Amino acid sequence: MTSSTDSSALICSALTKTFADAPVLRGVDLAVPPGAVVALLGPSGCGKTTTLRLIAGFDFPDSGDIVINGRRVAGAGVQIAAENRRVGMVFQEYALFPHRSVLDNVAFGLGGSARERRAQAAALLERIGLAGVGDRMPHGLSGGQQQRVALARALAPKPELLLLDEPFSNLDAGLRAQVRAEVRAILSHAGITSIFVTHDQEEALSFADSVAVMLEGRVAQFGTPSTIYRMPVSRDVAAFVGEANFLPGEAHGGVVHCALGELRLGAPLNGAVDVLIRPEMIDLRPQADGAAVILWREYYGYAQRVGLKLADGAALTARVSASWEGAVGEKVAVTILGTACAFPRS
Ligand SMILES: Nc1ncnc2c1ncn2[C@@H]1O[C@H](COP(=O)(O)OP(=O)(O)O)[C@@H](O)[C@H]1O
Ligand SMILES: [Mg+2]
Repeated sequence: MTSSTDSSALICSALTKTFADAPVLRGVDLAVPPGAVVALLGPSGCGKTTTLRLIAGFDFPDSGDIVINGRRVAGAGVQIAAENRRVGMVFQEYALFPHRSVLDNVAFGLGGSARERRAQAAALLERIGLAGVGDRMPHGLSGGQQQRVALARALAPKPELLLLDEPFSNLDAGLRAQVRAEVRAILSHAGITSIFVTHDQEEALSFADSVAVMLEGRVAQFGTPSTIYRMPVSRDVAAFVGEANFLPGEAHGGVVHCALGELRLGAPLNGAVDVLIRPEMIDLRPQADGAAVILWREYYGYAQRVGLKLADGAALTARVSASWEGAVGEKVAVTILGTACAFPRS
């Protein structure tokens, strides 16, 4: 183990878990630095919730280790129960006690006298901007307020690690961005190491310090949002995170030949490859003998997507500014901005 993983707040090593003969986790490796907010991003069914449940201690791995702040909590014969792990959890469905007041919900799980617990809970509610609602019942709050109360309740016992499972997916789109920003501010202020699960790429990229992309029971890549998006380690990661065009090509060191001509590669490679071209890397100019023809246009207000067909029949999707003018059926010249990324063809 390297020194950077020794100081990690959480280390998962080679976690496996099988349910009824179906392997769900196939060797999950993850090292989270103290204080980081990490997104565990992956498609539905890839094992995200299972991973969180193992970290929380609601279930145990078949093999592999979990170490929280230097203490082994699972693996090598150790099975520390959930209540002894100092791990807080926030679920998609808030899971507040419906017959307790907001204040009592937050006070639940705190130690000390009833009076001390209520005082601590009130202080927490104030910190998350809900000082006025302590006496209300949960159903009297909006979804976003309920999620903040659930967060306050999870933070109240001062956990070493906070796990959030799809915490924003029950909120409607208009509210989600706002609640997300509020929760992000609360986590930053608390300085608590957090792992939040999402299947929403934009949410993961915009919310987290680092993203762990999970595919088929493994962490396929761990890195900053920009590294994950701009330097994906595999075609599968590239295809899952953001929109991806792939063109077949032949790489020769720092350049690759493909249907768009010769492109520069970010990292040298040789042989048959798939070239990754993100939609926003494509610059279009109307030109009578251009290499591509416009098949369709989708207008979003802040940008537009344009479908293109190349002379060899290959399809590409470009993202251009909202003011770009180009009509379906017109020919355009295509320029690729920046360097491309490629993956050896298997
Ligand atoms: N307790 C369980 N018993 C049987 N199968 C389970 C159990 N928990 C999860 N699974 C299966 O494991 C797979 C991964 O589930 P999950 O971790 O919930 O995925 P995700 O949260 O990424 O959507 C799914 O196919 C799910 O049906
Ligand atoms: Mg899940």
